[in-house]
Amino acid sequence: MSRRITGFTPSGELHLGNYFGAIKPLVDQQIPDRSIVFVSDLHALTLDHDPAAVRRRTLEFATVLLAAGADPARSIFLVQSHVPEHTELHYLLESATGYGEVRRMIQFKEKSRDSDRVRVSLLTYPVLMAADILLYQAGEVPVGEDQRQHVELARDIAERFNTAYGRVFTVPRMVNPPVAARIMDLSDPTAKMSKSTSVTGSLRLLDSPDTLRRKVMRAVTDPGSAVEYDPENRPGIANLLTILAACTGEDPADAAARSGGYADLKRAVADAVIATTDPIRHRYTELSEDPESVRKIVQDGAIRARLIAGDTVTAAKRAIGLLPA
Ligand code: TYM
Repeated sequence: MSRRITGFTPSGELHLGNYFGAIKPLVDQQIPDRSIVFVSDLHALTLDHDPAAVRRRTLEFATVLLAAGADPARSIFLVQSHVPEHTELHYLLESATGYGEVRRMIQFKEKSRDSDRVRVSLLTYPVLMAADILLYQAGEVPVGEDQRQHVELARDIAERFNTAYGRVFTVPRMVNPPVAARIMDLSDPTAKMSKSTSVTGSLRLLDSPDTLRRKVMRAVTDPGSAVEYDPENRPGIANLLTILAACTGEDPADAAARSGGYADLKRAVADAVIATTDPIRHRYTELSEDPESVRKIVQDGAIRARLIAGDTVTAAKRAIGLLPA
């Protein structure tokens, strides 16, 4: 059985989209030595950033992930920059990636409008993400829909490298959750819920129950009053149904069938979201009283990760001509 890996970039605050898109799929299937979860702190350097905030959020993200069920006994749990093989492999993969391939990435296009201020690392970050995945020979990458292009790039790079230099990498594939691969912003259901935008539209894992309820009750809905699952024509209601279904483990259309009007639906969504996030928030409060033990967990994780990562880098260096064949 192949490994599963997923990462979280410590910018902004973790929200319900991150939870259903990637955290839950990973923590639901943790298998010793097969599951890897990490905080991708290097990726937080691709845009303007405050060093103190990156440091603080890296610890906060690690703590939230543990609170949400990442289990160091069953998963290798690490901070990306603690494992230098990520950047070492990044360079080798850059040398097997075309400029045109990375320039085409949608996230790069969206974030690079002001080209004088764009960092080179924003352009090459999908190659670092490929390195994150290929380093551990991961076959499955549970992520939200927004990461599709990046995982496809990782596949392309792996295949090209294997063809050109000999088989070194497992070719990964993206794994999407059955519902909630793309949770939308509550105040603009045409935009994805994201860490850095729209405080009112994002249901954060550490928001208080009152805040969550207020945000859900104020969510933008659609004209009319029918509670139907129709993402194209009724994106606001479809998003609420998706969130409800993700929380209760049902199908969005079934959630629609048992809902009354809009107010009823919103109450059900608020209750379900609070029931999902409350245990995480409580556990977060407990764990954050002892940051040293969180630091210890990621230190141990880095040691375990380097055993796997070191072998991959050696194999890649040998294949590409940097070590004796
Ligand atoms: P990041 O930190 O932006 O998001 C973390 C995960 O959450 C998913 N996600 C969503 N899923 C559903 N609905 C949403 N609204 C939503 N918003 C975010 C993302 O798809 C992602 O799975 N580059 C990555 C982190 C990364 C990574 C990796 C992931 C770095 N290296 C290697 C997997 C494998 C990122 O910035 O995700």
